[in-house]
Amino acid sequence: MQGAFIAILTFSLGTAGAAPRYVCTYYDVVEHLNISSHSKLYTHILPKANLEEPMEVTMDFLLVAILSVVEKLQTVSFYFVLHLSWKNPFATWDPQDFCNISKVVLPMDMYWSPPIFILERVNGQNSHLDYVTIMHNGTFNFSQTFQVTLTCSLMILKFPFDSQMCNVSIASYLHPAVTDLVMKARRTAEEIMKYSQSFFLTDGEWKFTNMSILEHTEMLEDGEFSVVTYMISMDRRPILYVLNLILPTCALYLLDMAVLFGPSSLEEKISFQITIILGSSMLAVILNNILPTSSNKPPIIVVFFLGTFLLMIMAVLDTFFLLHEQHKSLRFNKTLGSFQQEVLVTRTINKLPMECPTKEGPQRLNLPKKDKEKGRPGNPQRHPMEQDPFLLVLEKVLLYTHFFLSLVFFAIICIKWSS
Ligand SMILES: *[C@@H]1O[C@H](CO)[C@@H](O)[C@H](O)[C@H]1NC(C)=O
Ligand SMILES: *[C@@H]1O[C@H](CO)[C@@H](O)[C@H](O)[C@H]1NC(C)=O
Ligand SMILES: *[C@@H]1O[C@H](CO)[C@@H](O)[C@H](O)[C@H]1NC(C)=O
Ligand SMILES: *[C@@H]1O[C@H](CO)[C@@H](O)[C@H](O)[C@H]1NC(C)=O
Ligand SMILES: *[C@@H]1O[C@H](CO)[C@@H](O)[C@H](O)[C@H]1NC(C)=O
Ligand SMILES: *[C@@H]1O[C@H](CO)[C@@H](O)[C@H](O)[C@H]1NC(C)=O
Repeated sequence: MQGAFIAILTFSLGTAGAAPRYVCTYYDVVEHLNISSHSKLYTHILPKANLEEPMEVTMDFLLVAILSVVEKLQTVSFYFVLHLSWKNPFATWDPQDFCNISKVVLPMDMYWSPPIFILERVNGQNSHLDYVTIMHNGTFNFSQTFQVTLTCSLMILKFPFDSQMCNVSIASYLHPAVTDLVMKARRTAEEIMKYSQSFFLTDGEWKFTNMSILEHTEMLEDGEFSVVTYMISMDRRPILYVLNLILPTCALYLLDMAVLFGPSSLEEKISFQITIILGSSMLAVILNNILPTSSNKPPIIVVFFLGTFLLMIMAVLDTFFLLHEQHKSLRFNKTLGSFQQEVLVTRTINKLPMECPTKEGPQRLNLPKKDKEKGRPGNPQRHPMEQDPFLLVLEKVLLYTHFFLSLVFFAIICIKWSS
């Protein structure tokens, strides 16, 4: 019993005294790294062991979500994860000395970390997870999520059948590229695409379609700086706009054509057509809220709206013109009619046999009588219009010209949209 106790005591004393090499906590590693003795300044200085060689920061980018695209402000919001990795030759240990502990996690501000900027950034926030993983060989790994709003020149010419390309440029404008700090993309664009698509969260209006990476150095006044640009391509899913704007406009236009070719009287046509124009201008107001105010070329959808609007106005003008012609011919016919009546009266007085010089003669003659019978002297449009061959031809010509113009216009719009 006593022997055993002494044996345990000597064993524990022995291990405590003889083996300080085998210590098994993260504290020991951190102690070894001498962090507490660092001055604060230490964390701001580039940890280069070899003055000739620039330090290499490899970068990994993972697009998680496309949060919004605001055409009017020309901004996009992305949610992405950025993974940075670099090597600090002053923070190494031998894992064999520390029970095979090969990595520790430390706060970001204990060691130097690359100061990065996102060039296009106008707003946004990072996760406040400011920790870095340090490997025994001095490799630092750092991941951070970013939810940022970026400026992006959005080309809306083909809206809503457009696709956009936006840049996320990550640069470090503190350390010159050739001598001090080089930034590299770790994965190829295809790998990132595959990886991102397995993590991609949003399934909204925008579809993430492609990505390419451009590593370059940018010349500034005080040196060259390394920049990695991730170019993100995305396609708009147009279905909502087609259902909300384009189809209703087309339907209204078809209605307009139906009214134009329909059998109602010209006055009725005009009031129908004006109602339809009012309806389509409601849709134009919706569109106006989406599109940016300035653009070099007007987007095709604006041309489409404006074109249908003008065609509708033209249809109203056509109808007005026909109405005008009708009134003119009516006045003419009235005078002709009264003249013929006089002739008839004189003929009946003179007991001459009745002859009709034209087919319309007798009907024209009946017209004023009929109106008198109805007690409504002022609504004789239908009859002369159907019977005046000149008006009929004029109406046909106008309507078919209009129809042809519309066909050409819609064909051009379709071609422009699909090209
Ligand atoms: C920490 O300081 C000790 C004693 O000065 C030294 O032996 C050790 O190498 C230092 N550790 C590192 C990581 O520099
Ligand atoms: C550390 O790893 C080496 C090799 O894998 C192994 O031989 C050794 O026993 C390990 N040490 C401890 C304390 O686990
Ligand atoms: C450091 O160790 C990690 C993990 O073992 C390894 O992935 C990495 O490539 C090493 N870095 C260097 C520069 O040797
Ligand atoms: C750190 O990054 C390197 C590559 O840069 C990778 O090989 C290693 O697995 C990463 N380590 C951790 C713990 O994420
Ligand atoms: C993205 O960056 C590339 C290279 O710098 C440039 O050619 C392209 O115009 C940029 N695109 C946008 C939308 O800013
Ligand atoms: C994606 O972009 C790369 C590089 O710009 C290009 O080679 C590739 O064809 C594109 N892929 C698709 C599906 O557009």
